[in-house]
Amino acid sequence: MFETLGKAPVDGILELSRQYQCDQRNDKIDLGIGVYRDEANQIPIMRSIKAAERQLYQVQKTKTYLSPSGDPVFGEQMIDLVFGADADPDRISACQTPGGTGALRIIGELLAQARPGTSVWLPQPGWGNHEVIFAAAGLELKFYPYFDPRTGGVEVSATLDALSAARSGDTVLIHACCHNPTGADPTKAQWLQLAKFLESRELFPLIDMAYLGFGGGLEQDGFAARLIARTCQESAIAVSCSKSFTLYRDRVGAAILVGKSKSVRDIAFGQIQAVARGMYSMPPDHGAAAVRTLLGDEFLRKQWRDELEAMRTRIVRLRADLASAQRRFTHSYRRSQIERQNGMFSCLNLTPDQVRLLRDRHAIYMLDNGRINISALQSEKVEIFADALASI
Ligand code: LMR
Repeated sequence: MFETLGKAPVDGILELSRQYQCDQRNDKIDLGIGVYRDEANQIPIMRSIKAAERQLYQVQKTKTYLSPSGDPVFGEQMIDLVFGADADPDRISACQTPGGTGALRIIGELLAQARPGTSVWLPQPGWGNHEVIFAAAGLELKFYPYFDPRTGGVEVSATLDALSAARSGDTVLIHACCHNPTGADPTKAQWLQLAKFLESRELFPLIDMAYLGFGGGLEQDGFAARLIARTCQESAIAVSCSKSFTLYRDRVGAAILVGKSKSVRDIAFGQIQAVARGMYSMPPDHGAAAVRTLLGDEFLRKQWRDELEAMRTRIVRLRADLASAQRRFTHSYRRSQIERQNGMFSCLNLTPDQVRLLRDRHAIYMLDNGRINISALQSEKVEIFADALASI
């Protein structure tokens, strides 16, 4: 049976991590996979999460099955986190999922059922796994240009030009904040333009929210989702708790559906639960239970917000430090794009050969498209990295 299979395609991000693990050099630097690294080069678990897990250990009495949509309290908390006072209980519901990827996949399945033969439009550049997820869900992949390397910002007119070819009912995937891989996010004016365009063309917005709290902060990072829910009749949001709660391997996320009416939303919510039941029956719960405990406890909630904000501001500081080191090493006075971009990632303007040179000569690992994880640049590595960059 298995001999009929061809080799699986290589996932660039996971393969880079594997190569990094195999590198024996002591001074190696991993700017590859998107995980938050602290000043000690650790991928920490937040103190608030640890405390919530301790509480959970004391009070949890059973691990019996939940339902395909997980714990309804967790769903409400995710809606509250994204929408706050804007949450409309008649239009919005949420389903606990195995990570943000699980949310994207079941939303993809739902869209393929609702509109067979529909396309999903992905930003280019984007996160490679989106293609795998939506192709597996049976959607046709199309691409729209997103990033303007000259300004380091979003090329919104090119985006809208490309999306003019989309058919009514097609899905447009948008990164809520901290665009992966470029760190370039639309301005508020560009978001307004985009939201109006999507509504007028009857396109379905699917928002990937994997870095909530890392861009402009918790409130600002939910702006696009709230605006789109107000402007467009329907939308969906895939929330990931991997980065924002440091729960990567526990697989915690939510699929939030925004319907045009209560009855349509209820049908969609029933269908997405049926999809989840058929794919994995029900989501894992340990990490989600920790989030539930944390968000339900005023003290832990505050501690979590502070920890997340400290991570965000550290990245902002590292961006400024890197930009100023680059100016020193290249004798330039230009303001760097890196300072204007958001979240963990930016894409450096490097050729694949230059990326390879950095890996071979300097043991510095980044994605082939020049994407770097800024949080992995501890203060003492900023100078080393800027020096290596200038040398190639
Ligand atoms: C990344 O982009 O590096 C992260 O989202 C991790 C992953 O699963 O690819």
